[in-house]
Amino acid sequence: MSFTLWFTGLSASGKTTLSRRIYFDLKSRGLKVELLDGDLVRAALNQDLGFSRRDRDIQVRRLGFISHLLNKNDVISIVGAISPYAGTRAKNRQLIEQYIEIFCSCPLEVVEGRDPKGLYAKARRGEILHFTGISDPYEAPEAPEIIAHTDQESEEASTAKIINFLEECDYIPRRDCCPIIDYSESDERQWRQRLANLGFIKS
Ligand code: ADX
Repeated sequence: MSFTLWFTGLSASGKTTLSRRIYFDLKSRGLKVELLDGDLVRAALNQDLGFSRRDRDIQVRRLGFISHLLNKNDVISIVGAISPYAGTRAKNRQLIEQYIEIFCSCPLEVVEGRDPKGLYAKARRGEILHFTGISDPYEAPEAPEIIAHTDQESEEASTAKIINFLEECDYIPRRDCCPIIDYSESDERQWRQRLANLGFIKS
C-alpha cells in the first residue's frame, strides 16, 4: 500500500511547481511514483469536461480513483488539481487509504498578480466564466496535513517541509537510508523523453 499526495489550491498557487519538485525528489530515491496534473489529465482523459460543479467533481473523483488504483499497486500518486470543493475532497480522502492533503495557500491578489496564463485577467474581463476565485468558489481545506504558504516560503522551503513530513511520518525512508540509485544514461533518456511527451519538460 502506498500513499497519495494531493495538492489543492487556486490556479497559480504553486501546485504544479511543488508537485513536480516532489515527484523528482521521490523518483531520485528510486521510489515508484506517478504525477497526475489536473491540466494534463483533463487534456488526456477528460476533454469532455468543463468547469461546472458537476464536471469538476467528475475530474476530481477520477483523479481520486486513479490514485486509489496506483496506491493499491504500491505506486505513490501525486495529484495537483484545484479541487475546489471540500465535499469532493472528503470523498477522495475516504477512498484513498493514505491520503495526504497539501494546501497551496496563497492570497487571491498574489495569484492574480502572477497570472502566468493570463486567465485571471480574462476572468475579470468576463471572457472566462466560472473561474475559481473570481466567479466560482474555492473552499479552502480546514485540516490539511500540510500547508505550503507559497506567498511567503521559497519553493525550496515548501519542498523541504513536505519531504520532512513524509520522512517524519515514515511514508518514505530518510534519504541517508536510501541506496544510491545509479540510473544508466539510457534510463535517464527514456525517463526524460516520457516527461517531455507529457509536457513536463522540454526535450
Ligand atoms: S478542478 O477545479 O477541476 O480541480 P483543474 O485543476 O482540473 O481544476 O484545472 C484547473 C486549470 O484549468 C487551471 O489551472 C486553468 O489553467 C484551467 N482553467 C480553465 N478554465 C478554468 C476555470 N473556469 N476555473 C479554473 N481553472 C480553469
